[in-house]
Amino acid sequence: MVTAYQEETLTLPPQHAGNPYLTGPFAPVLNQDIFTDLEVIGEIPRDLHGTYYRNGPNPKYVPKGRYHWFDGDGMLHALSFEDGKAVYRNRWIETEGLVAEDAERRSLFTGLIEPDPKNPLGYIKDNANTDVIYHKGNLLTLFYRAGKPYVVDPHTLKTIGATDFGGKWKGLVSAHAKVDEHTGELMIFDYGPKPPYMHYGVVSPEGELVNRTPIPLPGWRLPHDIAITRQYTVLMDMPVFVDPEAVKHGKQRIDFFPEIPTRFAVIPRHGGEADIRWFEAEPCYIYHVVNAWDNGDEVVMDVCRVSQPVAERGARMSDLDRMKKVLAEALQSARYHRYRFNLKTGATHEEQLWDITSEFPMVDLNRMGTPTRYSYHVTLPPLDTLRFDGLVKYDTQTGAQEEYKFGPGRWGSEAPFAARTDAVSEDDGYLLSFLHDENSGRSECLILDAVKLTEGPLARVMLPRRVPLGFHATWIPGLTLDNEVSS
Ligand SMILES: [Fe+2]
Repeated sequence: MVTAYQEETLTLPPQHAGNPYLTGPFAPVLNQDIFTDLEVIGEIPRDLHGTYYRNGPNPKYVPKGRYHWFDGDGMLHALSFEDGKAVYRNRWIETEGLVAEDAERRSLFTGLIEPDPKNPLGYIKDNANTDVIYHKGNLLTLFYRAGKPYVVDPHTLKTIGATDFGGKWKGLVSAHAKVDEHTGELMIFDYGPKPPYMHYGVVSPEGELVNRTPIPLPGWRLPHDIAITRQYTVLMDMPVFVDPEAVKHGKQRIDFFPEIPTRFAVIPRHGGEADIRWFEAEPCYIYHVVNAWDNGDEVVMDVCRVSQPVAERGARMSDLDRMKKVLAEALQSARYHRYRFNLKTGATHEEQLWDITSEFPMVDLNRMGTPTRYSYHVTLPPLDTLRFDGLVKYDTQTGAQEEYKFGPGRWGSEAPFAARTDAVSEDDGYLLSFLHDENSGRSECLILDAVKLTEGPLARVMLPRRVPLGFHATWIPGLTLDNEVSS
């Protein structure tokens, strides 16, 4: 049993001391550890076999210039389960930028608030801190702003290096690439400031790019996610982008343009530019897709729709205030929303399904692209910083929802679903969430029964030190990890 542990964090100079994303539950940890003998409150289900991975920002060196939460170096935290026992490990993703900084033992890049073309690798550091997915025996860590996809060994968390999918993908890859677990294909996209502003690609189960298609947009857009069905991929053109008027005055201000519709490009998985069907919808922003599937002539897509993507349009705020508002306040308007794109008529139908603030949706990844009834989201309290105070499970068949709140001062993580080996229903499995308790200063991992969410955790795996709050997570079954070889 690990009883005493010296946690190391950054010593912050005065200019960073008030930054909420460098302090408290967001403060980075400097230790890279493996813990094997962990205290457990309750009992880890013996049939829980696999690994829960979570990515998030964790700056290794005192930031140069003003720090935005999205600037931190990516760090993976993993908790592996087998035979009722858990093993924790964490490790930085060794991006090109971090390797360059390691050589000098200091931060070399300014961040998102002060992007600078004189930074060593371009305007901002590509830090792979946003998303973590699994494909072809490896983890892929992905950056929200589109970056190099870094391949990581799922067993050791050691970074293997960036991939270009057989030398064929000439571009970057955004967070939220999607794997079709039935075919083994990986659907990827990038976006950026140059025409055509977006590309879409398909990577074979063997890791080779087999399709690359331009998705022409009216200008530089800032999409975040895509949806896949068994037949189609849906890409997004949303009216949230850098204000061209502000650019004329030398400013890069992201704004929402509610007079411009949101558009969705529905493209056959292996289709080309000529096959794109565009569907218009009410203006909004979408961070995350719940799931999508084919339904006769329709593509159904469930999302968390943000109706007020920018807290105060054109507002003059300090950078820090603006950053906090964009992150925390905008997501307050996220609602469970369903689109139906009719491929026969070209019509879009959309409706809000619940009036609850929730985000970071998860479904059983084995069912991604096929009809799902349940999804599991985090709930977002109205605070200055982005924190998750509970989980909500939605049942789209009955319209019911169930919630579990973590308790005062307890903040969780995105909670992936781990199906039981002999599952008898779609929700027969577990939800996992790293959690930090500000009252005790301790971190833990909750294991919940997805069928009985309201009953609270089956087990709490107590960790010897903090896991900072972070971004996206995934669950990889043990049989998958055991049978596929990392390359
Ligand atoms: Fe995301």
